[in-house]
Amino acid sequence: MTDLVVRRLLVDMEAPIERHWCDGDPFRTALFDALSMSFPVGEQFFIDSVRNGHRALPADKQEPLRAGVQGFIGQEATHRRLHALYNAQLDKLGLVNEWAPRAQQRLKLLEGADPRHPVAITAANEHFTAILADWLLHNADVLGTRDPRLVTLWLWHSAEESEHKAIAFDVYQALGGNHEWRITWFRRITTVFLGDLLRQTVCNLRRDGSLWKWRTWKSAAQHLFGKRGFVRQTYRPWREYLRPDFHPNQQDSSASARWLQEHSDAFTPVGSPA
Ligand SMILES: [Fe+2]
Ligand SMILES: [Fe+2]
Repeated sequence: MTDLVVRRLLVDMEAPIERHWCDGDPFRTALFDALSMSFPVGEQFFIDSVRNGHRALPADKQEPLRAGVQGFIGQEATHRRLHALYNAQLDKLGLVNEWAPRAQQRLKLLEGADPRHPVAITAANEHFTAILADWLLHNADVLGTRDPRLVTLWLWHSAEESEHKAIAFDVYQALGGNHEWRITWFRRITTVFLGDLLRQTVCNLRRDGSLWKWRTWKSAAQHLFGKRGFVRQTYRPWREYLRPDFHPNQQDSSASARWLQEHSDAFTPVGSPA
C-alpha cells in the first residue's frame, strides 16, 4: 500500500460552534457531537495499542509494518487534537462529555493485558469507524451546509479512517492474534460502542432541550433506519468482519481517495511523524 500521509487540516477549530450546526437538526448534531466526544480518549488508546503491539513484534515482522504504523499514529494524533478543540467548543455550549470518563475507567481493566487484546479492540473499532466513514463519504449531505468547517473536518477524518483501516488489523495478524478473540472483541465492542453512542447522544439532546421533540425522533428514525440510514446501509459491511478470511482492504475505499483528491486545498501534507 502507499504510505499514509499526515495532513494538517486548514480549518479554524477554535471558532465557536452553532448549537444545531448540522442542518439545524438537533438529532444529527447530537449524534456527531457524541462521536466527537469519544475521539480524544479513544484515539489515544488506539495509538498506544498499535504502538505497543508493533513493539512486541520480532524485528523482521516490525519492519514491513513500520511506515503504516507511523502514518496511523500521525493521523490519529491529528484527529484527536482537532476533536479536542471541537469538544472544547461543545463544553461552551453546556454539553457534558460523560463518554470519555466512562471509557477511561473501562480501559483501566486492560492494564497488564496481553498486547493482542488492545490491538484486537482497536481493530474492531477501526472496522466500525471505517464503515461509518465510508457511509458518511457517500452521504455527505447529512452533514448539512451551515458549517463548512465541520463538514470538512468530518469528511477529512472519514477519508483518513478509510485510508488507514487495515493497520491495526495487520498488527493483530502479525502478532499471531486468533480469529476467536478477534470476533469476541468485535461483538463486545459493537455492544459497548453503540451503547455509549446512544447514551451520549441522549445526554446531548437532554441538555439541549431537544430530547422530547417529535422532530428529533423523526430525524433519528430517518437517519438510522431509513433507506439511506446508517444502520440499514452498514449492517452488511459490519457483518463481513465475522468471516475468518476477512481483511479490511477487501472493502472498497474509493470514496476516501476521491474526497482527498478533490479537496486537496483543505489540507497541507506534513508527512509521516518520525
Ligand atoms: Fe481517527
Ligand atoms: Fe482510525
